Amino acid sequence: MRPRDRKARTRIVVTGTLATFAVLAAFAIAARIATRVLMLADLDDELETLSIAIASDLELRGTATVAHESLRHGVETNAFVYRLEHHAAVLFDAHGVLAATGELGHLARHSNLLEFQRRDEQPFTGREPFTGQQRLCRFRVTHLREHAAGATLLIFRSIETISRTLDIVDGALALLVFGGSLASALILRYAVGRALLPVEQVTAFAERITASDLAQRVEVAAAGEEFQRLADVINSLLERLDRSFDAQRRLVADAAHELKTPAAVIAAEAQELARGRLSEDESQESLRMIARAAAGLAHEVDDLLELARGDAAQRRQWETFDVDEALDESVAMAVSPARERGVIIMRDGRAACRVHGDRAGFVRAIGNLVANAVRYGPRDSEVRATARVTEHACEIDVADRGPGIPEAERARIFERFVRLSSARKEHPEGAGLGLAIVEQIVQAHGGAIEVLDREGGGALFRVRFPRAATEPPQEPVVA
Ligand SMILES: Nc1ncnc2c1ncn2[C@@H]1O[C@H](COP(=O)(O)OP(=O)(O)OP(=O)(O)O)[C@@H](O)[C@H]1O
Ligand SMILES: [Mg+2]
Repeated sequence: MRPRDRKARTRIVVTGTLATFAVLAAFAIAARIATRVLMLADLDDELETLSIAIASDLELRGTATVAHESLRHGVETNAFVYRLEHHAAVLFDAHGVLAATGELGHLARHSNLLEFQRRDEQPFTGREPFTGQQRLCRFRVTHLREHAAGATLLIFRSIETISRTLDIVDGALALLVFGGSLASALILRYAVGRALLPVEQVTAFAERITASDLAQRVEVAAAGEEFQRLADVINSLLERLDRSFDAQRRLVADAAHELKTPAAVIAAEAQELARGRLSEDESQESLRMIARAAAGLAHEVDDLLELARGDAAQRRQWETFDVDEALDESVAMAVSPARERGVIIMRDGRAACRVHGDRAGFVRAIGNLVANAVRYGPRDSEVRATARVTEHACEIDVADRGPGIPEAERARIFERFVRLSSARKEHPEGAGLGLAIVEQIVQAHGGAIEVLDREGGGALFRVRFPRAATEPPQEPVVA
């Protein structure tokens, strides 16, 4: 297990154990207080009953005729009536002991008794000072009135047994607190260890996994909903990574393959030139081929960089621009290849529409569509670039008179390096990256692209870019 896991586990166990200890200790203290209060309450009732019984008798009769025996008799009588035992009583006044039970008459010193005279009539616990045994007792003092005024009655009984019982209760409670805390620590340690097992499994799995085995999936056996969700999230992350790694691998392989051909052409032609056996015309042709291949290479590298930038979601500066002007620029880019093929580019319908976005990207995307239309349309044909405005979008159509795109291929042609076989045969100069770039740029703007059939034959690419938000609403212009 990793040190961090251990720390988390220790922290949970220590916190849990301390909490258990605190709860048990609070419970033990409350139980101890309740036991003591209940035990003494019974005792205090006894003392009070006895004190009231004897005191009321004395207050009626006065203390002049009280003898030691009569007090003992009083206690004993009451002990019988109220089932009281082990009680001792002393009756005294300012001059000395008037009566007492048992040997107390001889044992009780007057100075000791005067201490009790200062007490109020609340029961209290203390050590008896009379017998020399210092027994723990519960005392109650009654200050007599009426015929017995001036005299004080002290009744008490030993609570040594109660005290011993309380000691046993204390021991049992301490055992409960420490034993309970220990048991809770052990249970927590086991339970937390088991609960963290899936975390360990996931950690060990994540440590094991590398870019080459992203097809693996983490499994957490019967771990509960939370851990199952964690495993699902990790697995779906792996799946996305796997797919994106796969796409990257394919892209690199395709790119290498595409770049190899022009590089091989350049190398072969350069070798021929170096041998110096070519005629003047052949040398010129060879140089032209090198120039074409190098230009193709530069173009492909540029396209790949554009795609890589889009993949990394790197944004160029966004601005609000006029679609008509940007479309004019896109068309201007294709003028020279169009002239070569005798293709006329018609620019009709002005949208008066504004888009907020990457202007250079827009020009490049529409430029790619116009370049395709020029390249794949027949020689001496016409290409039409139209802009119009709709409620929410600026719509651009690029239409040609070429073979069009079969329905089944319409989704595929936007993939990187995909070229239809006719295009490969007739126009070997393309790389199959143009439409991938168009789609990426359109999507980055939240727009859409679709491939349609042009009326009368040919392909029609329709692109929609959302209109800039600040633009005042306009009537749709029909081209
Ligand atoms: N207007 C069109 N008419 C017919 N087919 C087209 C048209 N535009 C694109 N295609 C087909 O779609 C394929 C992909 O086009 P894309 O622009 O991505 O690549 P490319 O033109 O072949 O090469 P690149 O644009 O990288 O120079 C083309 O090879 C072609 O087969
Ligand atoms: Mg293209």
